[in-house]
Order: sequence, then structure tokens, then C-alpha cells
Amino acid sequence: MITVIGSLNYDLVTFTKRVPEAGETIQGDLFEEHLGGKGMNECVAVVSLIHSELRKHIRMWGRVGDDRQGQMFLDKLHSLNVDTSSVKTLPNTRSGSATIMVEELTGENRIIIIGGANSQLRPTEDELRASFPSDSSEKQFVVLQNEFPDPLYVINWLGDNRPNVTTFYNPSPLKKELLKMEILNKVEYLVVNRGEAWGLIGESAKGAQGAQGAQGAEGANDNELVISMLRSFLDKPTLIITLGSKGCIFNQPTMDPKSYHFVPSRKVSNVVDTTGAGDTFLGGTVAELYSGASLKDALNFATAASSLAIQKKGAVEGIPKYANVKNIM
Ligand code: RIB
Ligand code: NA
Repeated sequence: MITVIGSLNYDLVTFTKRVPEAGETIQGDLFEEHLGGKGMNECVAVVSLIHSELRKHIRMWGRVGDDRQGQMFLDKLHSLNVDTSSVKTLPNTRSGSATIMVEELTGENRIIIIGGANSQLRPTEDELRASFPSDSSEKQFVVLQNEFPDPLYVINWLGDNRPNVTTFYNPSPLKKELLKMEILNKVEYLVVNRGEAWGLIGESAKGAQGAQGAQGAEGANDNELVISMLRSFLDKPTLIITLGSKGCIFNQPTMDPKSYHFVPSRKVSNVVDTTGAGDTFLGGTVAELYSGASLKDALNFATAASSLAIQKKGAVEGIPKYANVKNIM
């Protein structure tokens, strides 16, 4: 079973040539509404990007409001045969939302999220015990991010009580209060972008020399630096760092702590909307690893999936299907 624990946001997206300055009003080009939220995107990415025989193994864990949007999330998840028994509809509550501005030239976005129902997603020990029975021999993957209050509680509990569960954590959006290295060390796969990687390092290395000054550096040396510094704080997780349009690098605990493998991305000339590209990448990685692929192959598949996602508008709506990704590989 693959369980995605996290947010469901209704994305209100404005496409514009540029974003306004403070106090300025400008004319945009297009407004659209899309299903999104990192948890929802990751869940749909896993379902869409996994072998069809494994598609019934996906479970979403989240909270929606008793509004029109909440029902839209449930309808979408049901249409994909996702197990929604852990998606609760909260009375007198609004679903989470995200106000997004997309710059048309680059597909780059700016996002403000409002937690809404997601703010009340607090898995309890009883719920975790019931969802992850200790006597089960079933393969269990769990995917989490930072769009609900306390993902570290779940990671910590699973790490201490369910050592056979494989956890994937994308600490995004980065929150200082959630940077607890002793708990991050219980994650199996830590997936961050460059900025998040340096944020993690900066927090842990406060006072230590090097971390701050090196932040702006680019290129191969910088990759080595960011990997080795992260590794100096974290022994257990496999570290995956995404490099935007360049691809990603990774280091596994069995590797030399300074070394990394590089997985290049595909060239995309028409970037339309990067919203959800990271979630598609993570979902693709999880889906392929669950199917038994090697990490390198899984990441190669995931970069191909996200290269397709950025060529379509919308987070959930932009996620490609397994066959489409295989087609371009
Ligand atoms: O990662 C992309 C997502 O971030 C969007 O769908 C938006 O809802 C925000 O949560
Ligand atoms: Na997209």
C-alpha cells in the first residue's frame, strides 16, 4: 500500500505576463481553477504513474471542507479508485486553497496557500496503529510534505514503531519549526530542491562556517558541497536534490558521502505551468520504486514525468499517465 498523507488545495490560478508590484493593478491574461495541493498532486501522480496492476494499492489521508471543492476532490479520487477512507469531510470548514500567479514566459509560479481543512489534519497514534498494523507483511510506503500541521509526528512514530514502512518526505514549504534533524534522520527518502537543501543545512549548521557563504555557488562543486553537507547531518535517508530544469542528484547512505549520481532532465522548450512539477516528480519516483525499479531508473522516469507536467496547465490536470511517460523514454 502507498499512503499519501497531506494537503488538498483548490488552486485559483491567474496567468500573467508579469506579476504586479505592491500597490499596482495590472491586466492578466487568463484565470483557471484546478485541483491541487501537494498531497493531492502526489497522490494523483502516484496513481497515474504506477503500473495498472498496482493502482488499487493507493490510499489518500487528508481533510476537506464541506464545500463544493471538497466534493470535487472526493469525486476525482473516487474516479481514480483511490482509497479515501482516511479523507474526512469537516463540517463548517472550507477546503484548503492556493492563490497562484503563473508568469507566462517562464511558467514560474508564486503561491499563497490557506490551510483550511488541511490545518486540522493531525493523524493520531490510534489512527496510525489502525492504518499500519504491526503484524502486516504488506509493503508499505508513506509520502508526506509540509502542508499539514505536524508531519514530523507521523515520521517519528513510524520510524520508532513501524521500521518496515518506507517513508518519503518532501519538507515543502520549508518551515523552520519542522527542521528537526533527529526526526529527519528517521526518513528513508528525503526529497528537496536546492533552496530547501540549503535551508536545511543553514539551520543545522548555524554557527558552522561554510554553509552561508557557499549558498550562491552553482555547478558541479556546489552539488558536491550541498550533498556532503546534508549528509553530515543525516546518516539514514537517501538524499534526492532536484535542480529545476537541470535534473536531480542523489546520494544513498551506502555511497561515499561526498559523491552523487546525476540524473539529467529533458529539454523542454514550451514551459506552460510548473505548478505541481515537484509533486509529479516525487509521485513518479515513489510509483517506480514501489514497482521495484532501481533508484536511478525511478528518478529518470520521474524527471520525464515532470517534463511532461510542466507543458500542461494545472497541478493535478497536468500530471501525465504512465504510458505517456514511457513513450518519451
Ligand atoms: O506543489 C504545488 C502545489 O502547491 C499547488 O497545487 C498548490 O496547491 C500548493 O499547495
Ligand atoms: Na503543470
